[in-house]
Amino acid sequence: MRFRSSIALTVLAFIPAATLLQRTAAAQVAQTPPMGWNSWNYFAEKVTDKDIRASADQIVSSGMRDAGYIYVNIDDTWEGERDANGVLHTNSKFPDMKALADYVHSKGLKIGIYSGPGPKTCAGFAGSLGHEEQDAQLYASWGIDYLKYDLCSFIPEVMEKQAPNDHAEQMRIMVAAYDKMAKALKATGRPIVFSLCQYGWDSPWEWAPALGGNLWRSTGDISPDWDRIYTILEQQDGLAKYAGPGHWNDPDMLEVGNGKLSLAENRAHFSMWAMVASPLLAGNDLPNMKPEIKEILTNRDVIAIDQDKLGKQGYRAYADGEDEVWIRHLSGGAMAIAVLAAGDNRYSTHPFHLDLAKLGLHGPQQAKNLWTGKETTLTHDMPIEIDSHDVLLFRVANPK
Ligand code: GLA
Repeated sequence: MRFRSSIALTVLAFIPAATLLQRTAAAQVAQTPPMGWNSWNYFAEKVTDKDIRASADQIVSSGMRDAGYIYVNIDDTWEGERDANGVLHTNSKFPDMKALADYVHSKGLKIGIYSGPGPKTCAGFAGSLGHEEQDAQLYASWGIDYLKYDLCSFIPEVMEKQAPNDHAEQMRIMVAAYDKMAKALKATGRPIVFSLCQYGWDSPWEWAPALGGNLWRSTGDISPDWDRIYTILEQQDGLAKYAGPGHWNDPDMLEVGNGKLSLAENRAHFSMWAMVASPLLAGNDLPNMKPEIKEILTNRDVIAIDQDKLGKQGYRAYADGEDEVWIRHLSGGAMAIAVLAAGDNRYSTHPFHLDLAKLGLHGPQQAKNLWTGKETTLTHDMPIEIDSHDVLLFRVANPK
């Protein structure tokens, strides 16, 4: 052991301290799924500097920051034009990005931004094609901490043009484009979370971690609609083994508090995103957030499931019709159990019985109901009644 560590020390001596620091810092981002807020799901293309500042203020005053929501992410539509030197400028909605980043940082928060590998972003603004290093340096100079990199126009403008009808080659070109930006971000020396957004094409969970992706969208876009949320959840099944500290499946940003989702649907959406170790990026109108929505988003017990240090994503243990039981193994040998009424009927009309054996559990289990805060005992075959689209979420500290 002595011999080995002295070799290690000798090797270390040849690596400049700054490089070591960079590597350590880069390796440390997203050790748990990133938490924060993103402008797209509520503001979409209308977002302004003022909205970002107001949202940052609210994250602090609502207690969300203290509950773990740290990243304030500007999505698409901040981009202006490039000047003669290729330097990208912001558009008039964002007069001074550095000042905005300083403001967000002054609140004890971090700030994220958005671009894509194509000539244009999804909303038709300037993308990073041919300017990857320059853009990465620009973000770092502003103090950006997180980049969402969205494929969009790269598909028709580069992949399909360079390799018509050759799917394998198109995918290779796509992976190379993400790798290019990953390297450009690393070269800045600033720890920047790298979020891949290419809608789950070509199984990004298999290749994104190797190039330094911290999260990758696993599906198309979410919308504030139960059927869409449930469809996306189903698509997470089978992906658990790809997630872990530093690299996460991303079933898209939260719609909690958006559209016409019922309270049950908001609760179920939030619970299940925590079960699958999803990034928790709220996407609602924070300055006008209703108290019951704040309560959901700041439920510390549910957040603790999402942020569990072990970083093991949960999975569906079994389904009984449209009733599903998901489990997640947690640090310290604990376990989270979610019983989801995915369908449109009440359990009272379709009695559901909890099968503990199918979860690998034997005998009564002491559990905490994470939405009522009450201690309870789960027994084998116990009848469970839940409203349609609602969830029961338990933490079992000592599963037997
Ligand atoms: C795509 C992404 C969304 C959002 C928009 C912005 O649709 O999947 O999350 O970033 O682009 O234009």
